[in-house]
Amino acid sequence: MKFRLVCTLALAWGIVGCNSKPSDNNTSTTTAPTTSNTTAPPISNTTAPPVSSGPSFAAYYNATPAVLGEAVIDLVPLPAGDVVVAQSSGALNRVDVNGQPALEAAVGYVGNLAETNGSIFAAGELGQVHERSGAAWTLSYTHATLPQVVVAALNGDVYSFNSLLGTDPVTGQVLPAQVSQRPSGGAWAPDVASLGNVQITAAAPWNTTVWAGGSDNSLTTGGPRLFHGTGATWTEIALPAAAVGTNQLEIVTRIMSTPTKLWVSTMVIDTLSTPAVAIGGAVHETVDGATFTTVAAFNGDSPISLAWHEGTLFVGTLAGRLFHEEPTGMIEETALPANLGVFALASRDAQTLLIGLRGNAGAELVLRNSAPPANQAPPANLTTYAGDVRPVLMARCTVCHSDAANAGFIAYPLSVGLTDATADYNETRMRVNLVTPDASPLLRKAVGLDGHGGGASIAQGSSDYTTLQQWIVDQAPQ
Ligand code: HEC
Repeated sequence: MKFRLVCTLALAWGIVGCNSKPSDNNTSTTTAPTTSNTTAPPISNTTAPPVSSGPSFAAYYNATPAVLGEAVIDLVPLPAGDVVVAQSSGALNRVDVNGQPALEAAVGYVGNLAETNGSIFAAGELGQVHERSGAAWTLSYTHATLPQVVVAALNGDVYSFNSLLGTDPVTGQVLPAQVSQRPSGGAWAPDVASLGNVQITAAAPWNTTVWAGGSDNSLTTGGPRLFHGTGATWTEIALPAAAVGTNQLEIVTRIMSTPTKLWVSTMVIDTLSTPAVAIGGAVHETVDGATFTTVAAFNGDSPISLAWHEGTLFVGTLAGRLFHEEPTGMIEETALPANLGVFALASRDAQTLLIGLRGNAGAELVLRNSAPPANQAPPANLTTYAGDVRPVLMARCTVCHSDAANAGFIAYPLSVGLTDATADYNETRMRVNLVTPDASPLLRKAVGLDGHGGGASIAQGSSDYTTLQQWIVDQAPQ
């Protein structure tokens, strides 16, 4: 069997795809990314004033040997601060807090990663799913016929979404995309459900179901497709679609969620070019799993990575740009070092966003650090979590947010009596926006904006409000 086409379009944003293997790079990736970024995105406010106290970016890890065109494709932060890094070449590295890599496995190609119950799963090539437990990787599953794989995990269950773009090279048939499931602690059950004539390119869990997206299984034209479900039961959900012409395909590139929201990013590609050329895309969000709102639309570039960090949405693009969402719209972070594609984003902790790149030389990780530079003496009389914020949360928020039976607990869990200072600080710190304090979900939800389940728990301008606000202005110290 030949999988060249599959590889070319695999995760079709796998515009990196198999082409990034050094032995196979004649078609693409020794050159700059194929997006022509000549057209500005129709994101309305990229001209908004630059953020005042910008974050700093620092080089963290550069893959060696550097392979031109290789990208960091996905990231899973580990509890101790290390991060598992999947590279498009198939290298699976654990990179420690000092940026030192330990190569754990080298498989043919890696698409995406999924994590559950301390195990990490990697979607490989040729229908393979690899499993990491401890620091050892083993082959967990190989689909019999469908080589394109995306993995997702939900509460210990692992899902393999397998598809084949176009027709089977042997039979000439179009093969339906299949869902295989490995229940927690059990064995793989192949093909528990079929998703029909689609290719699946992204998947992620959200609350009680897994979401999987892709495109029509077409080499010529079609729209984005989105499903969710568990086990054998899957439902298709309509996603806003770009107006695609002949030889244009709109593909889901990423799915990401917080307890209360799900985001789906898409890319429009011109299928006539090899490798495919990205000509646009969008990011859509939903709170009810049925209706979507478009939060960003791109022209001449495509969103290919998503993260929730500092209480807001971050979007990385194929042309190497990074955006975050403000109440006024998407803001570009122009201080990000030049690169050939922001392929992976992951929030490591309250201060640090991990950014996986196709760097100018090869696969790279950059850190976005929002903490004030260490050489600046912190001003005296800072508003702190322990001294100032905790009493406000105790009085105003714990009635719902420390009650495991309340919906507010799932959305923003605080310990009973706020006794777990570290966990409570981290949960609270995750919901602030240091750049634009008033945009922080912590403040907006507290006063009843954005449909807060608890209504207005504190009044805008009250002393409780100014305490929370000043804490964020002070960079949210512990
Ligand atoms: C009467 C119950 C109640 C009270 C009191 C309450 N909340 Fe909530 N809160 C909820 C519920 C329910 C949700 C989930 C739905 C939603 O997102 O609004 C929620 C969600 C949130 C979220 C969004 C979490 C996320 O990341 O998705 C934040 C932030 C939040 N609350 C902050 C606060 C703060 C700060 C206070 C105290 C000043 C507070 N809440 C008081 C019920 C409450």
